[in-house]
Amino acid sequence: MIIENLVETHCHIMPGVDDGAPDIETSLAMIEKLQRQGAKKIILTPHYYSDNISLDDFLRRRDKAFNELLRELPSGSPTLIPAAEVYISRYLFNNPNIDELKIAGSNYILIEHPFSSSFSENTYDRLMNMYCDYGAKPILAHIERYPALMDDPYKLEDYINMGCLTQVNISSFVDSHRSVKKKLIKLLNTGHIHLIGSDCHNLSSRAPEYENGIKEIIKKSGQEAVDVLIKNSNILTSGI
Ligand SMILES: [Fe+2]
Repeated sequence: MIIENLVETHCHIMPGVDDGAPDIETSLAMIEKLQRQGAKKIILTPHYYSDNISLDDFLRRRDKAFNELLRELPSGSPTLIPAAEVYISRYLFNNPNIDELKIAGSNYILIEHPFSSSFSENTYDRLMNMYCDYGAKPILAHIERYPALMDDPYKLEDYINMGCLTQVNISSFVDSHRSVKKKLIKLLNTGHIHLIGSDCHNLSSRAPEYENGIKEIIKKSGQEAVDVLIKNSNILTSGI
């Protein structure tokens, strides 16, 4: 299946930086797999644990890996966009700026939380501070993993009203518990899901695989829903 103008918004393809691709060969195979499915752009989002490593050290590692990957990238490959999946902590706010975590010249940064996060007022304030201090707008990664958001659509709505975008892993439309899948379709149909990504880490257990999830969305919500998701990801990366 070819998904026209697919943009991968969440993946761990950057070689040797996190628990994703361990080497360039794996990275290239994952990129090729995405290209075969129609990917024109790939946002590379290695984990950045802001409570564990300084931003400077992370960026040094990320950019070194990125440059090494670019050197081996065959011509005609999808455009690669360096970014990060940022685990937010108070230490993030020690940095004078966090511009290099933003995606493709936009103000958006992919943000992850602990799975047990209650998305309390504290969380809300922290994300709000990202905007106030750095002009950065969060993309909430894989919202389906957080019961606090899935069980309380009003809470999710608060974050969207703040200016957050939401991202769902495409495999979750197929592999999740039936109740979660049902909620995801409902959220999709009401415009609460803005982006899909594979969150791939390898070529086996967490592979870059869109087909089954896309088919499920088409079955439940129609081709138009897919078109909107793809359009959103292209707008996000329109600066590249
Ligand atoms: Fe991820």
